[in-house]
Amino acid sequence: MAGETVLVIDDDAAVRTVLTRALMQAGYRVRSGANAATMWELAASDEGDVMITDVVLPDAEAFEVLPRIRRRRPELPIIVMSARNTVMTAIRAAERGAFEYLPKPFDLSEMLEVVRRALEHKKRGGLQEGAATEEGDERLPLIGRSRAMQEIYRIIARLTQTDLTVMILGESGTGKELVARVLHDYGKRRKGPFVAINMAAIPRELIESELFGHEKGAFTGAVARHAGCFERARGGTLFLDEIGDMPLEAQTRLLRVLQEGEFTTIGGTRPIKADVRIIAATHRDLRQLIAAGQFREDLFYRLNVATVRLPPLRERLEDIPDLVAHFVEEAAKEGLPRKVFLPEAIERLKRHRWPGNVRELENIVRRILAIHAEEEIGPEIVDAELEEFTPASGGLPEGEEGELSQLSAFMERWLQAHFSNHGDELPPQGLYHRVLREVERPLIAAALAATGGNQVKAAQLLGINRNTLRTHMKNLEIDVMRLPRMNGKA
Ligand SMILES: Nc1ncnc2c1ncn2[C@@H]1O[C@H](COP(=O)(O)OP(=O)(O)OP(=O)(O)O)[C@@H](O)[C@H]1O
Ligand SMILES: [Mg+2]
Repeated sequence: MAGETVLVIDDDAAVRTVLTRALMQAGYRVRSGANAATMWELAASDEGDVMITDVVLPDAEAFEVLPRIRRRRPELPIIVMSARNTVMTAIRAAERGAFEYLPKPFDLSEMLEVVRRALEHKKRGGLQEGAATEEGDERLPLIGRSRAMQEIYRIIARLTQTDLTVMILGESGTGKELVARVLHDYGKRRKGPFVAINMAAIPRELIESELFGHEKGAFTGAVARHAGCFERARGGTLFLDEIGDMPLEAQTRLLRVLQEGEFTTIGGTRPIKADVRIIAATHRDLRQLIAAGQFREDLFYRLNVATVRLPPLRERLEDIPDLVAHFVEEAAKEGLPRKVFLPEAIERLKRHRWPGNVRELENIVRRILAIHAEEEIGPEIVDAELEEFTPASGGLPEGEEGELSQLSAFMERWLQAHFSNHGDELPPQGLYHRVLREVERPLIAAALAATGGNQVKAAQLLGINRNTLRTHMKNLEIDVMRLPRMNGKA
């Protein structure tokens, strides 16, 4: 060990002691301080090879001093730790050029590892300039202080400082779109537009012209030139939502654009430079789609440069109280009455499985606020709401009839949620075909997989004509050669 010096700034003596002991054991020298004034003095006297600092200090916030230190000591890596644990703390740290952000309480061995990395980084030539920005407002775009979310905040904070393509994965309602917006709003391109396109909500035959635009007269119905998403998002972020639903031809075209950095409109000849940051999202298992021949593997690797994997709500139940409080506040801004959720009511919410994740929680909170007159929300109300909107407990109903009735009950709930997601507006046109497609694709794929790709048997199983099956497979872009096998039957 070279005996480098670590500067430790924290007003909590216990934290200073623990850190000092661990760092000295690891062979470092330590200088410590308890406030922002000392933090500046130590840095300005050119001491230390790496700094670890708390955020909230008695005389000032570390973030106020950090830009000054960064100017004076651009080579000094700074590790920020905080018990505030919000996405804004993480982002602010990244914006101020912090080397790394660690939520408190931190793991000592992790901290030592970060210190080691920081020193190595310093040796290799220091840090790049952090993008200084004006203060954002303090309203938090993302709620949750669980470990799982802390990890997400660290990744987000790092990604806001880059232009990398990001893939956001997570079940429905876990906050994928919200994260995409945060990446844009706090990223380098925040002054540019954020353009979102949902592959599952646009008729498939229109997707390419929506993405790349078309010239007047490019096809029947193209009465005027239309600027596509790539053009409208210039200088900003293009959010490709539900990327798993992108038709194969559009995937091929997108891949080419990503490889070449330019695109042409449909019917156009002049290549246009693509100047967008791409963020893609899906709730589907892309590897499975790749195996089924429905998603291009090469496109997957192009898009999956950095991954944000959002945890389902059931894996971070401890965030429920914060989320409920947040949704009550949000609803109050829209004029819904403010109510208190009693601790037992919160306990009940924590016991639920939340298949619809944060969106489901948000909907339930809003419904309770809107429907119930009580000032205090007790467990009975929560139980009643959860029971009404979730499948009967006690496992699957008996027999095929029962299972099928579950499917239609699920559809009803899904449709209810779908309509309510669009608020006062109707969902995009073509709902019938979008829904049927979503049912047909897994149905036909499952039948083919279960019969080892034998189309005659699959058609029999489904009770449809073999030619009809062929037509569906073609329309749904199901490639039988690449289907995974099911149940070991073949
Ligand atoms: N961490 C969070 N903090 C606050 N609100 C959240 C959080 N995560 C999700 N939400 C809210 O939950 C709702 C669903 O989030 P969002 O639309 O981003 O989910 P999604 O993953 O895109 O879902 P889908 O796959 O169904 O499109 C939104 O109203 C969003 O504001
Ligand atoms: Mg979404």
